[in-house]
Amino acid sequence: MATKLVEVKHIKKYFPVGKDSFLHAVDDVSFEIEKGEIYGIVGESGSGKSTIGRCILRLLEIDEGEVFFAKERIDDQTKSQMAPIRPQMQMVFQNPLASFNPKKYIGATFRELGKVYHLSKEELNERIINLLELINLPADVLARMPNQLSGGQLQRLAVARCLLLNPKFIVADEPVSALDVSVQAQILNLILDLRDKMGLTILFISHDLNVVQRICDKVAVVYLGTIVEQATKEELFLHTAHPYTKALMNVKPIEHPSLRSDKEVLMGDIPSAVDVKEGCRFAGRCPKCEKGLCDCVTPPLVAINENHFVACHHPL
Ligand SMILES: Nc1ncnc2c1ncn2[C@@H]1O[C@H](COP(=O)(O)OP(=O)(O)OP(=O)(O)O)[C@@H](O)[C@H]1O
Ligand SMILES: [Mg+2]
Repeated sequence: MATKLVEVKHIKKYFPVGKDSFLHAVDDVSFEIEKGEIYGIVGESGSGKSTIGRCILRLLEIDEGEVFFAKERIDDQTKSQMAPIRPQMQMVFQNPLASFNPKKYIGATFRELGKVYHLSKEELNERIINLLELINLPADVLARMPNQLSGGQLQRLAVARCLLLNPKFIVADEPVSALDVSVQAQILNLILDLRDKMGLTILFISHDLNVVQRICDKVAVVYLGTIVEQATKEELFLHTAHPYTKALMNVKPIEHPSLRSDKEVLMGDIPSAVDVKEGCRFAGRCPKCEKGLCDCVTPPLVAINENHFVACHHPL
């Protein structure tokens, strides 16, 4: 039977804005990730994807809810209690430059991380050699500065860096968004390969359903801090139930991130997440909105079948 590695229960993260207002970045989000699974979170810019990832890794503290890692509750642990857990959970960022000091050689960044976690010189060297083999780059990249590498090479190295401590769980926050399509495919293949070879469990964040379809086993579609649809990949793409998911699916793939336009995504702007009111958050943009219901009553996330959940009064 599959075992859960990560459990997120009713987490909330509100950011104060102004005097008495709060931005509901993550608003009662729950999901589970099984060992070895790639779990996707997809949604437009500002929907709360990164905040969810950061809350799980405790780069941000949640306001309410619970987070479990390997059956252990971690959101309330002290710094010293977290110390042995931290290396087991790592993050890959959208911009590979964020993982490296622009003024240091790549090798120095790896060595520093090894030092922080008390790896012996031999152990560190062995791990680096193995990782370079995994990501298919020659050892001479260690003697280069970040600006002497391509975006794709650097993102491979960012993945390797996050694997240095043998993590069990990775949050990959838009790891391919800054790369053009041909390089995207290489990185996605690398991630799939690593999952298979190392048994990694991955939370994969993206705004691109095409990418999610390629790589994820299960998917949560988020809108303004809430999950509106959650399903296995097959279910989500074959039996799309939420009008928002459907709208996201109509986005055409693009050749390069610089060509992306928010107008392509959906009609109208994503509304404010400040002091959100009762009612479906998508109501104002939804072609199926029923006045007096959708704009007044928040739809709960309910099961359509055992693999598929939707929060909508009028699912497709
Ligand atoms: N430290 C912060 N203080 C105040 N507001 C924040 C903070 N971090 C994020 N937010 C807000 O929370 C909301 C969710 O942000 P988040 O970065 O999680 O979105 P996202 O889905 O990752 O977007 P993107 O696709 O652009 O990366 C946004 O409205 C954002 O402006
Ligand atoms: Mg983000």
